Amino acid sequence: MAKRLSEAGNVRARWGSSAGFVWTAAGSAVGLGTIWKFPGKAYEGGGGLFCLVYLAVAVLLGVGLLLGEFAVGRAAQKNAAAAFRSLGRECAGRSWAFAGHLGLLSSLAVLLYYVEVGGWVLAYVLGYLTEPGAILGDPGGAFARLVGGPGDFPWLGAVWSPLAFTLATVLILRGGLNSGVERFNRLVMPGLLLVMAVLALAVQALPGAGAGAAFLLRADWRGFDFDLVLSALGQCFFSLSLGMSVMVTYGSFLPPRGSLPGNAWAVCLVDTLVAFLSGLIVVPAVFATPGAAMGKGGSFAFTALSGVFARMPGGLYVGLLFYLLLLAAALTSSVSLLETLVTFCAEEWGWRRARSLWGLGGFLFLAGMGYTLSYGGFWPGPLAAGLEWLADRLLIPLAALAACLFVGWVWGPERALGEICRGSRFPGKRLWVWLIRWFAPAAILLILGFGFFA
Ligand code: PHE
Repeated sequence: MAKRLSEAGNVRARWGSSAGFVWTAAGSAVGLGTIWKFPGKAYEGGGGLFCLVYLAVAVLLGVGLLLGEFAVGRAAQKNAAAAFRSLGRECAGRSWAFAGHLGLLSSLAVLLYYVEVGGWVLAYVLGYLTEPGAILGDPGGAFARLVGGPGDFPWLGAVWSPLAFTLATVLILRGGLNSGVERFNRLVMPGLLLVMAVLALAVQALPGAGAGAAFLLRADWRGFDFDLVLSALGQCFFSLSLGMSVMVTYGSFLPPRGSLPGNAWAVCLVDTLVAFLSGLIVVPAVFATPGAAMGKGGSFAFTALSGVFARMPGGLYVGLLFYLLLLAAALTSSVSLLETLVTFCAEEWGWRRARSLWGLGGFLFLAGMGYTLSYGGFWPGPLAAGLEWLADRLLIPLAALAACLFVGWVWGPERALGEICRGSRFPGKRLWVWLIRWFAPAAILLILGFGFFA
């Protein structure tokens, strides 16, 4: 295992290879948001038009911000809070640790619902394997039973499946950065990409699917408006795991040389490819099913989409594969969130890895339960919606804003570019500086403002 001593005297791990880093960062990016939100957002945004706008946003903003977060991490070689603290002190005499803390809080908030929803996906995979009739025969009822309701405690959805999912995440991290996290991602991610491509091709054979694919590939500019841009911006941020200290932490395990721009492009490419492939699976499948309607997010994926699989020839297998893909994507993302928090606990508080893992895992399991209980209605009240609102609308944009202001104005383009260009050429310097100083903060402020008051 590649290790070296940090200034604090801790042993710090390093990625085994550049490919390992790219697959692992892509594993964080490709998650539930990528797979089950993108198709619905693309549908709402007019299909091809949304895809084009998303592509532009991902190439310009996504790659640029990813590059900024990787650079902060690699330059500091520390956990997210310490990275912003030490670089801030070095160049401006003031700690910017709060930027890292905001990202860490976002990670914690997202992880609280990720372990629950990841658990539900696991329950679906097992359900498709053991008693598919129960889900395919009545998808709406199956999901309602999973998450419970008033007076109906959901043992499977709130206890057993999130427990299994959290345990799986903890066990992967127990293997360490190289033999656990990196190895798992290197194993899972190429397979995920391949299976998605095969599934996307297979779905096109359904009668009626062609109209769905055509809808995604044809852009009608008359539908262009501000809401569409905002929707693409929000999707891109969440999908690329920006503003959660995750990419700063992953960047901190990079050796000082190696191409940051190349890595950022590769991660963005994999994530965008998976998003488009997911669109090419879901939208044509819905178009090919009479009476089915598009939607997005968890409730759509667990109910309407299962209804589509129920009526599709071979739908049992397509559905099983689809939920398996979701499970893989959810695991590689939850692994990145927990690694970010564990690295922080180890370096800031001196906790041993095992202690952080079991402590955080236990906390996530217990506190996360509240999300499912509120989602299904066992507990009345808006806890579930409130948690999502807090993470998506407030914490993530605030953390992303702080990170990008730090890179553009505090650490400054010169030092940032010095880091980015170490080990590689970077032809887009001037555009990048403009993006990180002006365009990205403005875009994030828009997301923040409209998200807050919407
Ligand atoms: N990118 C993930 C998704 O699309 C969400 C996520 C963000 C996961 C940050 C991990 C870290 O679902």
